[in-house]
Amino acid sequence: MPEFGFGLDIGAYSIKFACLKRVKKEVQLVDLALEKGTEPANIKSDIDRILQANKLKEAEMVCSVAGPSVVVRYADFPDMSENEVMGAVTLESERFLPFRLEDVNLDLQILRGARETKGKMQVMIVAARKEIIKKRLDFLEAGAWTPLAIDVDALSIANCFEREGVTSANAIALLNMGAAFTNLCIIEENLPCFTRDIPVGGNTITSHIQKRIGVPPEEAEELKINIGLATETEGIDKEKITKVNDAIREILEVFLKEIRYSFDFHQSQAKGKIIEKIYVSGGTGILKNIDKFLSAELGAPVEIWNPLRILPSPKEVIDKWQAVSPVFAVSLGLAYKGLEYA
Ligand SMILES: Nc1ncnc2c1ncn2[C@@H]1O[C@H](COP(=O)(O)OP(=O)(O)OP(=O)(O)O)[C@@H](O)[C@H]1O
Ligand SMILES: [Mg+2]
Repeated sequence: MPEFGFGLDIGAYSIKFACLKRVKKEVQLVDLALEKGTEPANIKSDIDRILQANKLKEAEMVCSVAGPSVVVRYADFPDMSENEVMGAVTLESERFLPFRLEDVNLDLQILRGARETKGKMQVMIVAARKEIIKKRLDFLEAGAWTPLAIDVDALSIANCFEREGVTSANAIALLNMGAAFTNLCIIEENLPCFTRDIPVGGNTITSHIQKRIGVPPEEAEELKINIGLATETEGIDKEKITKVNDAIREILEVFLKEIRYSFDFHQSQAKGKIIEKIYVSGGTGILKNIDKFLSAELGAPVEIWNPLRILPSPKEVIDKWQAVSPVFAVSLGLAYKGLEYA
């Protein structure tokens, strides 16, 4: 009997669903779904169809949260049990968290592996405000889906990336550029070591184009997708192209400031290694020429990451979704997590 994992990524612009199965030791893609909108009803029929096609009665969903209601912190502790760490964190919560303890759900993970040193261990502390967790649970309830776990967008991309088996002596940055947020996760030795959400994404770009050029939102969105940072687009005059390019660049400058600040902060940490490569995912990662732009500005190679490339997948699913594959990074990371519970 194959075991299944279901990931549901509820974004500000679209909802993404990924279904994986484990057959013996191999993980395979079953199917994907993507719908614009933010309501369960937008994607319900796609999910029902996928479940039926695989003779599945229900999907135990892993979903995620992001944004200012979520923080991920890394702290060193002397060797102790997870319970003892939890005791220490709750006792001195204000040292670790910008929230009141009673307002959040708290989770811990001891980061085992290469970063452990004798007598000392690193712990990842995750806190999410209860109201955002409730929003996710309400969403699942409205769709009649069973919750299995709630993860964090930035950690989910790291979970998905881990399967690529990319090893590096330095650090790697994962940037999931969505609509409301860009999730940043820096990984070293295959473990996350810096996690942050930057409040800049495709929405910010579209509304800036709208303002700068004086067009309605739908037209601004279309201009963004058709032109992006390309300097030539068939059927559009040079002047308009330059205006769109400039408007996008103005927003990306703000974004770059935040990224540089984060990279500098990471590198100033005890073992902060240099960022060797940047992998970009998310809908805004498909913006034309964004890889060239980011690479030139950040001085590191940038790859638009296709999280399906290492995953054995049905041909029809690949044919349908290949062009927008970076959008599925979070949902795939969540589905992988679902498989861990199976
Ligand atoms: N081909 C494209 N070129 C440029 N931008 C695109 C393209 N396709 C989608 N986008 C933009 O990507 C964004 C949506 O990406 P994504 O689905 O990753 O976001 P989300 O997960 O819904 O949002 P968030 O994670 O911020 O809550 C939108 O702003 C959309 O305009
Ligand atoms: Mg997203």
